[in-house]
Amino acid sequence: MDRQAERGRQAEQTEQAEQSGQDGQAEQAGQDGQVERKPARERAERRTAREQVEQRAMRRAVELAAERLGLTGANPTVGCVVLDDRLRVVGEGSHRHDGEPHAEVVALAAAGTRARGGTAVVTLEPCAHTGRTGPCTEALRAAGVARVVYAVADPTPRAGGGAAVLAAAGIATEGGLLAAEATRANRYWLTNATRLRPWVTWKFGATLDGRIAAADGSSRWITSAAARADAHLLRARHGAVLVGAGTVRTDDPHLGVRHGVAGPAPVRVVVAADPSRLPATARVFDGSARTLLAVPERFARAAAPPGAELLPIGPPDSPPDDPPAGSDGGQVDPRALLSALLGLGIRSVLVEGGPRTAARLLAADCVDEAVGHLAPALLGAGPALLGDLGIATIGGALRWEFRAAEPVGPDLRVSVVPVPDLPVPDLPVPDLPGEGAPGEGALVGAGGWTA
Ligand SMILES: NC(=O)c1ccc[n+]([C@@H]2O[C@H](COP(=O)([O-])OP(=O)(O)OC[C@H]3O[C@@H](n4cnc5c(N)ncnc54)[C@H](OP(=O)(O)O)[C@@H]3O)[C@@H](O)[C@H]2O)c1
Repeated sequence: MDRQAERGRQAEQTEQAEQSGQDGQAEQAGQDGQVERKPARERAERRTAREQVEQRAMRRAVELAAERLGLTGANPTVGCVVLDDRLRVVGEGSHRHDGEPHAEVVALAAAGTRARGGTAVVTLEPCAHTGRTGPCTEALRAAGVARVVYAVADPTPRAGGGAAVLAAAGIATEGGLLAAEATRANRYWLTNATRLRPWVTWKFGATLDGRIAAADGSSRWITSAAARADAHLLRARHGAVLVGAGTVRTDDPHLGVRHGVAGPAPVRVVVAADPSRLPATARVFDGSARTLLAVPERFARAAAPPGAELLPIGPPDSPPDDPPAGSDGGQVDPRALLSALLGLGIRSVLVEGGPRTAARLLAADCVDEAVGHLAPALLGAGPALLGDLGIATIGGALRWEFRAAEPVGPDLRVSVVPVPDLPVPDLPVPDLPGEGAPGEGALVGAGGWTA
């Protein structure tokens, strides 16, 4: 039975359970011992009330998951809320990091015995496999939970299938509640699992007329201190910050997390067509965080500047006698680069320019979201925020959609995503390359649970 059909069957079971009064409330014995059916309207009202409570609980679970975005290592961001048998919140929790308990286990521990007969509302289908911790399906069963509502199906063959395991244990199980919101809250891991590359955010600061520097090259500071602090928050939530060699030469950025923002230092990635054109004294090579210098494969034996590691990137999947244009010395293939970064355990990348680097990633369909800080300033001249995408006519424009727009200090922060956005996973994806057995800590291919 495929996952869709399975879900239909589970929903049907839930419906039947309600109608036959398994929840202890739909039917009541009258004084004469006869079973009286409560009016259909009353049952429908109770179901609507339950749906509303579960939706509120799922919103909270999504919030809990989103708080951990970028901080869970190899594992997904998951939130869970446990309701007791009278639909009161009795526990909540999120997954902190791989190796630590899963969200369901955290929420069940908070609920204790009050979980018995209750409902677990969780943003990702509970896992059915044993990694460094036991299967969540078993934890839910052992806690006596009667119903599980999850948002998004687990697309990984290794951990997926939990819904069917729960249903087989007699637990009413439904999927799909607030799936789009939960997908977004877990976007890094889902991108790793389904696209086999890190999630990529392109961040830029520009004037209202789309300039990133003045005609004389001066660019500090186009945007406000508030926008820069927001940029540091973004850095702290990504595994790597990536820039092109041009930005290193022009702006000499440090790419660390400062401005009072706490969080792990992201790996710094510099993309260069020729590493010898980079100044060895650049601040990204100061040794304060890991720095990777992504170069075409022909520079594999070049000397890396002190404080940096060379990351030679070969052509993606073509035979050696048929390399794609540019792989011989011109360009670093963006897809191959991202795949190499994922292989190093980097789950998300913040691209901080410049325009040519961003254009290459966009042209390769490797950007998942753009976050722009727009300053209410006009320059009229100077470099544009994006390099040539090879689009000659208006019909070829990349049409994205606004996800959010909000003031940040005196600037406007816009968040824009491609259409279509990251799809909500449904059916399982094929086995991921390079994954070891659970607990072996394999990072390559990413997406599977390691806890
Ligand atoms: N306002 C902002 O948000 C912002 C952010 C960043 C930068 N900037 C501005 O951007 C300007 C610099 O622009 P830019 O276009 O020169 O910068 P860039 O995109 O940072 O650098 C372009 C260079 O990066 C290397 N590169 C990028 N992708 C590559 C690939 N796939 N394969 C091989 N090499 C690759 C090449 O290095 P080689 O040099 O080795 O050929 C290329 O010439 C500066 O004025 C800076 O202030 C503004």
